[in-house]
Amino acid sequence: MTVTTAIIPAAGWGTRMLPASFSVPKELLPVFDRPSIEWVVAEAVAAGIERIVLISGRGKSGLMDHFDRHPHLESILTKSAKDEAAAEIVKRSKSCQFIEVRQGDARGLGHAVLCGELGFNQDRVAVLLPDDLYFGSPSALSELITLSDSAPEKGVIGLLEVAPEQSRKYGMVGGVWRDRQMQIDTLVEKPEPENAPSNFAITGRYVLPRQLFDLLRNQGSGALGEIQLTDALQTLAANKGMLGMVPSAKRYDAGDAEGLLIASLRCALDHGSDSLRARVQAELQQ
Ligand code: G1P
Repeated sequence: MTVTTAIIPAAGWGTRMLPASFSVPKELLPVFDRPSIEWVVAEAVAAGIERIVLISGRGKSGLMDHFDRHPHLESILTKSAKDEAAAEIVKRSKSCQFIEVRQGDARGLGHAVLCGELGFNQDRVAVLLPDDLYFGSPSALSELITLSDSAPEKGVIGLLEVAPEQSRKYGMVGGVWRDRQMQIDTLVEKPEPENAPSNFAITGRYVLPRQLFDLLRNQGSGALGEIQLTDALQTLAANKGMLGMVPSAKRYDAGDAEGLLIASLRCALDHGSDSLRARVQAELQQ
């Protein structure tokens, strides 16, 4: 059975995005012409995901609203001959089944993912962290699902090579490369550079077996006093195995203002009209 459910943890405060995220969920800040989370949902849907469990928190109800129907607005758009815009709303809301689970306490990424178990009844689940945007084809999640199909009992994660001093920002992995895959044996959350097992970092794309939820339930606090997904994955690596690969698509960090801006420019160049493309290129050359 393939992977049709995804968990998107989106309960975080967005402290790296302040002051922009003070009263607007950072996932609703735009990348080009739509909220950043819509790009993540589109990637999931393109990879065959049919149900998204959105882990939200206080002040984040706008996330579900974004993917809801807007009957009043739809009728206004239709009356003003903007049928295409009205149809877009319907299409967005039907692209997937959305379920919201609130994470009452901020107890870390592992806890957030565990909250998503409520909406899950299959053998494997995808997890997409909305700070990480991937643009390009094939989509990052679809590549990871293909790898997971070859070893469904193992966990699969997206990797990114980073400079050694960046290790403090990421979960870092170590293991043995075979072709494009790393057989991961070590995962450490945000280590000092001298303790990082390699220069490969975990990015926000995972395909994980159901067993993960049992591991998370028994997982004590780790780095920053939080329940870390990375620590549960270390146990999974020892029990069933973990595979990693660097997706072909390019990854953007939309979790801070600089990354959001760069991702926006990339999207404008990829999805904008010819005239916008020319304008962006001309502006950047000045
Ligand atoms: C989370 C994970 C970390 C991973 C990162 C990728 O950290 O805990 O292992 O490398 O996402 O973006 P966060 O950025 O939420 O602190």
